[in-house]
Amino acid sequence: MSWIYRTLLRPALFAQDSEEIHNCTLALLNCLGRHEVICDALASFLAPPELPVAVFGLRFPNPVGLAAGMDKHAAALPVWPALGFGFSEMGGVTWHPQPGNPAPRLFRAVADEALINRMGFNNPGAEAMAQTLAQWRALGRWPGHPVGINLGKSRITPLEKAAEDYAGSFRLLRPHADFFVVNVSSPNTPNLRRLQDKAALDEILAALQAINSTSQESNHPQSAIRNPHSPRPILVKVAPDLSFEALDEILELAGPRQIAGLVATNTTITRPETRNLDLQRIYAEAGGLSGRPLRARSTEIIRHLFRQTKGQLPLIGMGGIFDATDAWEKICAGASLVQIYTGLVYEGPGLVQEVVLGLSERLRAAGLANLQQAVGIEA
Ligand SMILES: Cc1cc2nc3c(=O)[nH]c(=O)nc-3n(C[C@H](O)[C@H](O)[C@H](O)COP(=O)(O)O)c2cc1C
Repeated sequence: MSWIYRTLLRPALFAQDSEEIHNCTLALLNCLGRHEVICDALASFLAPPELPVAVFGLRFPNPVGLAAGMDKHAAALPVWPALGFGFSEMGGVTWHPQPGNPAPRLFRAVADEALINRMGFNNPGAEAMAQTLAQWRALGRWPGHPVGINLGKSRITPLEKAAEDYAGSFRLLRPHADFFVVNVSSPNTPNLRRLQDKAALDEILAALQAINSTSQESNHPQSAIRNPHSPRPILVKVAPDLSFEALDEILELAGPRQIAGLVATNTTITRPETRNLDLQRIYAEAGGLSGRPLRARSTEIIRHLFRQTKGQLPLIGMGGIFDATDAWEKICAGASLVQIYTGLVYEGPGLVQEVVLGLSERLRAAGLANLQQAVGIEA
C-alpha cells in the first residue's frame, strides 16, 4: 500500500501546492466520513487488528494516533478510525477564530522527508469546533476511539491573559472530547513558547483544573468517558528545543496540577546541516520543522521525561515516525502512545496499519505479552 502511494500517488500530489492539496484531501475525507459504508470499506482495507493500550483512564484500540494540526476543523473525524488510527487529536483550536499566517506557510523538504510550517493556528475557533463535533455525534458518526483536542492561544490575546483564553476554549469543548492537550509549544504564535515557563503554565493549568473540578458526579449509565461533565485528562505538549532543565521544571507541575501526561514533541525551530541547495532554500523559511530530522531529538526528550518520572507519567511520543521501527524506538524510550503527522504525508494512509502490525511483530519477537511491557525498556 505505501509502495503504491509513494510511487504513483505521491508524485502527483507533491506536484501541487502543499496547503491546497491538504485542503482538498480534507474536503474529500469530509465527504467520505459522512457515509458509514464508505468508512467501513476503508476500514476493511486499512484498519489493523487491535493492539490495545489503556492510559489516562481511556482505552485505545491501538497506540498509533493522528497528531494535532492535520484536522484543525474536525472535518474528517469519522475517517481517522477507518484509516486505522487508535485515537485522533483535533485542532489546534483557539478561543477566537483566526485565519493564521499569510500563505505560503507550509513547505516540503522532500530530500529530508520533512515539512516546515508556520500555519499560526488557522482555525474556526472553539465555538465552531464545538458545533462541528456535536454535529458528528448527532449524525451518529462519532469515532469508536478516543478523541482529543489540542488547545492553543488566540493570537490577539496578550500573554498575561493566556489562562483565560485556554480556559474559555476548555469550558466550551470539554463535553465534546475525551482528553485535552495544552499546546504551549508551537513556534508560530509570537511568544507562545514562553508559556512553557513554570509560572505561566501553572496559571493555565490551574484555570483548566478549576473547570474540571466543577464536574458533576456522573449518574450516566455508560463509562465516565461519555459523561459530558466528568473531568477530562489534561496533557501538556512540549517543544523539542527545551533544555532538560526546562523540562524538569514542567514536570514539577505534574503532581500539583494533575497533568495526565506529556506530549513530546512539537516541531523544532532548529534546522539540520545540509549542502543540498534546495533544502537550504526551504530551511531558510521561518516555522517549525517536522518529520525525519526531528526523530532523534524527540526520542531523546521522551527518554529524559521517562527517566525523570520513573515511568509514572504517561507520554505520547511523536516526531519523525515513518515506520514501525521509528514507533518502536519511541515506545522503548518511554512513550505509551505515539502520533504521526509528517509520516502520513510521505508514506500515505497505509502507514498506520503497517506500524501497528510491525509493533505487534516486535512484541512477539521480544516475548512480551502487551505493549505496556515494552514502554521504556530502553530508557
Ligand atoms: C502543518 C502542521 C500543522 C501543525 N499544527 C499543530 C497544531 O495546531 N498543534 C500542535 O500541537 N501541533 C501541531 N503540529 C505539530 C504536530 O502535531 C507534531 O507534533 C509534529 O509535526 C511532529 O510530528 P511528525 O514528525 O510526525 O510530523 C503541526 C504540524 C504540521 C506539519
